Amino acid sequence: MTDNGRVPETDFPRSLADRLRGILIDADYTVSGVRDRLGDAAARALAREELVPALRATGGDERLGLLLRLWWLQSPIPERAARAILPVDELAGAGLVATDGDTVRALVNLTPWELEEGRPGFVVSDPKVRPGQGLVPRPDHVVGAGGASSTLAELMVNGPFDRALDLGTGCGVQALHLASRAREVVATDLNPRAVRLAGTSLALSGVRDARLAQGSLFEPVAGERFDLVVSNPPFVITPESARYTYRESDLPGDQVCAELVRQAPAHLTEGGWCQILANWVHSDGDDWEDRVGGWVTGTGCSGWVVQRDVQDPAEYVELWLRDSCEHGTPEYTRRYDAWLDYFEREGIKGIGFGWICLRNDVAQDAAVRVEELRHEIERPVGPYLPEVVDGAMTALRLPDTALLSAHVALAPGVVEERVGRPGAPDPEKILLRQRDGLRRVARIGTVEAALAGVCDGTMPVGPLLDVIAELMGEDPEVVRGRAPDALRTLISEGFFKVMR
Ligand SMILES: C[S@@+](CC[C@H](N)C(=O)[O-])C[C@H]1O[C@@H](n2cnc3c(N)ncnc32)[C@H](O)[C@@H]1O
Repeated sequence: MTDNGRVPETDFPRSLADRLRGILIDADYTVSGVRDRLGDAAARALAREELVPALRATGGDERLGLLLRLWWLQSPIPERAARAILPVDELAGAGLVATDGDTVRALVNLTPWELEEGRPGFVVSDPKVRPGQGLVPRPDHVVGAGGASSTLAELMVNGPFDRALDLGTGCGVQALHLASRAREVVATDLNPRAVRLAGTSLALSGVRDARLAQGSLFEPVAGERFDLVVSNPPFVITPESARYTYRESDLPGDQVCAELVRQAPAHLTEGGWCQILANWVHSDGDDWEDRVGGWVTGTGCSGWVVQRDVQDPAEYVELWLRDSCEHGTPEYTRRYDAWLDYFEREGIKGIGFGWICLRNDVAQDAAVRVEELRHEIERPVGPYLPEVVDGAMTALRLPDTALLSAHVALAPGVVEERVGRPGAPDPEKILLRQRDGLRRVARIGTVEAALAGVCDGTMPVGPLLDVIAELMGEDPEVVRGRAPDALRTLISEGFFKVMR
């Protein structure tokens, strides 16, 4: 490591990285190549951490099978076969493999990862600790890319950007996704081994010019601003401070996420985004929406906070004890009990999982939307996320008078559903449904339904409501008085768009 806390970009010689990348791509060691090679049943078994079907599917001396066994399944392969396809001595020198008798074994987990437009990427992490091995991760374990990594990658707004930061880069997976969005990418981590492995992932994925730095939170980028900051931070809420660096911080409860939100605005350019995955507590006498919304309010940024799931304390403890392969160990019961004790002491009744998006809207009136979305939504979210945030922020800033003189249009992809007894003159309920994006459904009244049928942005809302009131035999003043609240909600949820 150099004096200023930065680590060399990688210990992995560039020529070796290029050579290995060529070998992996030639052998079709890609997400689709591996999927085809394993077949559905073995791939599903692997997702359940069951290796046997995958080992059976990758027997023999064929290149792709050997690579899969070595670097994905962590199963040693014969040295003679390894030497036929890989520069074993150079890879051993770079710390990626070791020879053991007449076999070669992997010292890292090296898996393919699909980048934007199907470009092949590779992520390098510590060997996966699997259930039944009798092992737990080392405290500075560098975790590979998983479900949460995909969630954040799919949440990322599209560029192009000038500068982007991946805070807590781990195996470097988010930095790989940033590389196609930003001219300059910086990736940081508290764990120096993570910084090194991220460098290897970047080199193997053909990303040449990312800057890597070691340090806590925003320390390594003090005084710097970015157009996009992303982080999948160590958000796990536990009684034991930073037992595993990859998932736990030394801040109590959910404070690492609060701290990231607090510090992020000083590192965002005007209009810049910060997107983080987070966990937050649901505690006695505390409203989670106020709590997490409160982190954002006052930062000067607009915010969109989404809760995607909530777990009860027991589910949460089991999830993370399974994650670290502690199920069935002698310590399991003691840790489980101590973790529940901690939740009880702190009055924690549940834990929310979700994301926090900030946009540095200093020039405008920043606003915050906090909501729960537990249903399936269109993925990736990033391409349509700015539009969602724009709609929500516009609606929150729109007073009644401005709303009545605004031109609004039904958003593309919104359909109406009427539900009622067949043959009945009136429906029991009318729904608007988004066929794509966040796939929201809203129950609406007849006035909003009529508005949805006619508004295309050419006429302002007020005169349209007057015509609708007249057709329905209602007092236009009453309709004008009632409509803004309902319409504001529909705009904030993306059913209508404000045109001007
Ligand atoms: C959940 S992993 C995320 C890895 C990767 N970015 C991803 O999306 O899969 C969290 C990362 O944050 C790092 N980390 C932990 N504490 C940190 C801190 N105080 N400052 C910066 N990084 C930290 C860990 O070393 C780990 O690599």
